[in-house]
Amino acid sequence: MSIAEILETMSYGPAPESDKEARAWIKGLGGETKLFIGGAWKRAKTGESFETIAPGSGEVLTRIAQAGAADVDAAVKAAAKAQPAWAALAGHQRARYLYALARLIQRHSRLFSVVETLDNGKPIRETRDIDIPLVARHFYHHAGWAQLMDGELADREALGVCGQIIPWNFPLLMLAWKIAPAIALGNTVVLKPAEYTSLTALLFAEMCQKAGLPEGVVNIVTGDGATGEEIVKHPGIAKIAFTGSTEVGRRIREATAGTGKSLTLELGGKSPFIVFDDADLDAAVEGVVDAIWFNQGEVCCAGSRLLVQESVHDRFIAKLKARMETLRVGDPLDKVVDIGAIVHPVQLERIRSLVETGVKEGARLHQPKAGVPGKGCFYPPTLLTGVHPAATVSRVEIFGPVVVATTFRTPAEAVELANNTEYGLAASVWSETLSLALDIAPKLKCGVVWVNGTNMFDAGVGFGGYKESGFGREGGREGLSAYSRPKWLAKAKPIAEKPAAQPTGDVLSTAFVDRTAKFYVGGKQARPDGGYSRPVVSPSGALVGEVGEGNRKDIRNAVEAARKAASWGTASEHNRAQILYYIAENLDARAGEFAERLAAMTGRRRQDTAREVSASVSRLFAYGAWADKYEGTVHKPPMRGVALAMNEPVGTLGIVCPEEPGLLGFVSTFAPAIALGNRVVVIPSASQALAATDFYQVLETSDVPGGVVNIVTGDRHALALELARHEEVDGIWYFGNAATAGAIEKASAGNLKQVWAETAQREWYDARQGEGREFLGRATQVKNIWVPYGE
Ligand code: NAI
Repeated sequence: MSIAEILETMSYGPAPESDKEARAWIKGLGGETKLFIGGAWKRAKTGESFETIAPGSGEVLTRIAQAGAADVDAAVKAAAKAQPAWAALAGHQRARYLYALARLIQRHSRLFSVVETLDNGKPIRETRDIDIPLVARHFYHHAGWAQLMDGELADREALGVCGQIIPWNFPLLMLAWKIAPAIALGNTVVLKPAEYTSLTALLFAEMCQKAGLPEGVVNIVTGDGATGEEIVKHPGIAKIAFTGSTEVGRRIREATAGTGKSLTLELGGKSPFIVFDDADLDAAVEGVVDAIWFNQGEVCCAGSRLLVQESVHDRFIAKLKARMETLRVGDPLDKVVDIGAIVHPVQLERIRSLVETGVKEGARLHQPKAGVPGKGCFYPPTLLTGVHPAATVSRVEIFGPVVVATTFRTPAEAVELANNTEYGLAASVWSETLSLALDIAPKLKCGVVWVNGTNMFDAGVGFGGYKESGFGREGGREGLSAYSRPKWLAKAKPIAEKPAAQPTGDVLSTAFVDRTAKFYVGGKQARPDGGYSRPVVSPSGALVGEVGEGNRKDIRNAVEAARKAASWGTASEHNRAQILYYIAENLDARAGEFAERLAAMTGRRRQDTAREVSASVSRLFAYGAWADKYEGTVHKPPMRGVALAMNEPVGTLGIVCPEEPGLLGFVSTFAPAIALGNRVVVIPSASQALAATDFYQVLETSDVPGGVVNIVTGDRHALALELARHEEVDGIWYFGNAATAGAIEKASAGNLKQVWAETAQREWYDARQGEGREFLGRATQVKNIWVPYGE
């Protein structure tokens, strides 16, 4: 063919990347991989292994060792042995290791890219230009956090051994997201790659050796879900970090309940891609290509639900179909290929059957004419139009190159459709009117919003979900709290709950005779549904008063009232600050009464209870101060643009207060929550419940809108479980015994609500323990809004 002819047809020839070095490296593994434990290569004690294939060709690459319980145990022991010395290194020394790893990854980036592409099937263009550079960036960025830890996280320390379980869609990138922050802060890790894609994790282990990383800091065990389960249940592990399916995430939530392990989950998604009629439609079409055909759509934050404003729908879909014809599906090692292979035949079958279901349920199927290679594991780019929001393909994560399209008329309808999913990972908003896009972004219930863009990631910008997409953030300062804890926790004793005093028949309060304290729901006092009450008894057994005995119905009413008060979350921070100051002043005005009541309930001296009231007043002032100062951050990722990290309220929070101190514990927990825009259902101390019920009048005189604070008294354990099970509760805080903490964690798996169940005795009077950023962080979830700029 002459040059003139080539220019005429502009047809591409193949441009294959050489896989020589990669294959030589795989061959060097000896036909079966080993485990990386304590800095050395070990055969799996199970003696078992399984094949790993190259999905682009279907050939077997090698066999992967299946680690069993004894292997996981050995890895955890190696990690535990290494951890104290690793954490004791100066931050600067740890930073040097992370820098060394970053450099080694850059130096071997081509080998990493090709091995990843062979093993996973994703196009070499993507591994080479996106995955591996981002991996290096993660180690560089977190080397910096290791360096800065002593100053920037002075009150925090490492957790210990972290168990990390990752999926197959971004094998090395997910490894970097997990390992870099963990080891930067002085933790050691046992990481399990996904069974389909273990190879680059093993290559990374070689880099750990090359970098001279102390033995046992990083341990890699391979295997399937059973190996993952061994990690999850190992008692030597302090924290589990998981990325994968919501189904397995839920199982891990249940399995870790009550074990004291901390947990972060990054799960599935069904992210909306919203195109307004004033969008740059050609740019938005390219956005869709990136949103759903990048990485074959095997992306947790893939823009898999296309919502197009009705007036431009037909035009947009026509453009998209034309663009689909130009997408090239084929050999992942070919540099001109846009879409590579699906990771495994099992996943291919799952995609096929979901698309079939979509068509059966009425969707119109569109696929480009070119088709896919006959050999290997391929699926064409697919568009399903005319899809009802309730259809299976609109709700279920397909995790393949399939986008479902529907229309909307108004911005409000777009938001409603976008949020109509149990997931909440990401969203893309396309409009040339920035004010519209920035108005929509905060209304979307998800952890990441891209304005006029999609799939932007950076090590310095937190990533993670709302709702059933999980909890916790990875990346940037936002991700550091998941790998560290307050230093005081290590020395804290477990909370000791005394058995309740029994009434002797004496009556301490005259008011009690004619008044049983009711609940406080929706700004009004409400009678208990069951009609029962419970005594509040002094340590000597005298009756101080009676409060209502709450039940499931009372909790439901309180949650409903809290949800109706959603506008509190969008009230101005200034407004919330003023109300908190007002609550503080009104409590102060009645300080004597409260001190008296506390003295009666606890038998403590007046002087002592007056100190508690005064500490509570001060705490309310503190959160009045914080209300307009816990602001977000403007991230500057390496691109032309910014990412706005917004601290958004969690939503409806259930708060089970510590049993003691009755008033200060109540104030210290509900105040940070409402200061940052949450609505709360509070279960106060049972033995000092009157401190909370007396507070109704303080709330009523302080202009707190109805439904922002709801209070239900009764059995803390039973009511906590009602809150934990409630699907409309977004998060729960509990301060008390280990048994209830575990039961709450287990019950929370239903809607994967965020749980903060603390069983360590906190010094509530000490502002370093009882107040501040730890509470504010728990009261919020970060949403990153990416705003690229340029012409
Ligand atoms: P998966 O959730 O089963 O696998 C993820 C990781 O968890 C793997 O390392 C696996 O070995 C491990 N694992 C599996 N069962 C476990 C258990 N009981 N305890 C501990 N670890 C366990 O995901 P899978 O089966 O690979 O893919 C199924 C579907 O999950 C996909 O079609 C997709 O919808 C979704 N998925 C979502 C991902 C995300 O990033 N959000 C990533 C991978 C899959």
